[in-house]
Amino acid sequence: MVHWRATFVPSVVSVTSNNMSGNMHRAHSDLHGYLQTAVSLAKRAGTLIQQHRYPAQLNGGDALAINTKAGSADLVTDADVASQSLIFGALRKLYPEHKLIGEEDEEHAQLTNDPTWIVDAIDGTTNFVHGLDCCVSVALVVDRQPLVGAVYNPFRAEMFHAARGRGAFLNDVPITVKPCASLHDALILTEWGYVRNAPAVRRILAANERLITANVRGVRQLGAGALDLCYVGAGRADAVYCGIAGEGWHMWDFAAGALVAEEAGAKLSKLDGSPFDLTLPSMACATQNILPRLLEIVNAED
Ligand code: IPD
Repeated sequence: MVHWRATFVPSVVSVTSNNMSGNMHRAHSDLHGYLQTAVSLAKRAGTLIQQHRYPAQLNGGDALAINTKAGSADLVTDADVASQSLIFGALRKLYPEHKLIGEEDEEHAQLTNDPTWIVDAIDGTTNFVHGLDCCVSVALVVDRQPLVGAVYNPFRAEMFHAARGRGAFLNDVPITVKPCASLHDALILTEWGYVRNAPAVRRILAANERLITANVRGVRQLGAGALDLCYVGAGRADAVYCGIAGEGWHMWDFAAGALVAEEAGAKLSKLDGSPFDLTLPSMACATQNILPRLLEIVNAED
């Protein structure tokens, strides 16, 4: 039995029974079942990637095959492929009518309003390869809104999960964002991603410089976007942002973690302040009171 809040509390983007589409209505009728699936598959895949951990001698597992994708810093391992295949195999059996999108697909399908499972088989593959924290992320998205999500870091045995309107949890304990009075008290997360061209790197650096010189408590790059979002939800960090210059976050980096953060009380938007869209790479996530100032600083031209 996966925990959730007994009472449904609509969030800002939640649909209510009055304006639910047919897809959403049907999905809500088995929300708890979908949540259990997401949690159970994230856990099974997490256990699998733990057994593949590189270097092999850490866990006595097999040596890991590491390849590159879009650029030399964008890695994929045989553990990514095995993890996605485990998750997709189970989802195809359970919900043959649902669509699937995964980071390791050969071609990425467009997200539609249809029920779609969005999977990051290993979020933070570079961390994984180097023995740092990473996770498996599994979400069901309906009408382009995440409905359930599970993010599992097997190396800390931490399972974050959420269902829309039903709260967010870490290892079955409810989580909420930490109150943060001002940006001066804020620990802010961001990710460099795979950007390697000098003008783009300068724009990323400039945004971070503006934050540091605005005297925020700290800026960190932890290496796994889905975990960043969950850490804001759990009050470990106060904000996370991406999308200054093509850092390359995709819907599989966002889908489950965004729901965890939102259900824990965080607000999400694009960097221009307009509503968050998980198909676009621009995102800021923070408590309501610091989000406007964060956007102002990050967007300021030097
Ligand atoms: C990556 C991580 C990283 C972010 C990249 C993502 P991956 O995911 O979340 O922190 O900067 O943009 O693609 O490729 O390791 O699954």
